[in-house]
Amino acid sequence: MASRGKIQVLYQQARLTFSKKKGPSLENGFSEELGNLKTLVHSLTATDFDITPDVTKKRWDYKPYVTDSPAACMEVYECQDFIIGLFLIKPQKSIPLHNHPGMHGIMKILLGSMTVTSYTRAAAVRGRSDGGSKGQGDGGSFSASLVSKVTYTPQSEPCCLEPHSRNLHEIVASDQSVVFLDILGPPYNPKLGRDCAYYFREEPSPRDHSEEESILLKPGPNPAWFTCIPLTYSGPKVNPSINS
Ligand SMILES: [Fe+2]
Repeated sequence: MASRGKIQVLYQQARLTFSKKKGPSLENGFSEELGNLKTLVHSLTATDFDITPDVTKKRWDYKPYVTDSPAACMEVYECQDFIIGLFLIKPQKSIPLHNHPGMHGIMKILLGSMTVTSYTRAAAVRGRSDGGSKGQGDGGSFSASLVSKVTYTPQSEPCCLEPHSRNLHEIVASDQSVVFLDILGPPYNPKLGRDCAYYFREEPSPRDHSEEESILLKPGPNPAWFTCIPLTYSGPKVNPSINS
């Protein structure tokens, strides 16, 4: 049985970090605290969340409405500044290419292994050209560059993304079920222009075969094959009333 301690410390460090992101300048200690948060995240294990491989063996489909759902999620804690969650992916299933508008993100794999392919948006080629939180997913195609394609295990450093770097990614589970910790600041919020958008490759041009892997992406609807089922988190809880 895990103690509340480490998850409470995680919450407090996340709160400290993302409270600084709201200031007029990111040079308000945000970078330093984000580094501290990444270090803390790297130290966490599945045991800290009371997660065992059994969690991935439970049925998480809602038959007959949703069957063979590739992914599930558990909310550990959410506020207006950040969300701490756990994602589960079935073996060899994936989370399709999507964005994280205006967000910083930290992922840490807890069980299994998964390959994350990350892209950085370049410039719009038609339609909207603003790369901020309101520009993605509302009509225009754009070019993006492949930043990395890395397979992560519980021993790996966290996988990180920023508002204007590595902000789009696709996640593919290996042969075993995957559980990973996901911290996003701020959380998705469609009312504030932070909806999750999905992207698809345009027809490849000859240039797409170059080493730089610059590709054209176009937004589209949530793929019909992808659903993410909410599950109840039963691990150590966060107590927001405890400050330090
Ligand atoms: Fe993501």
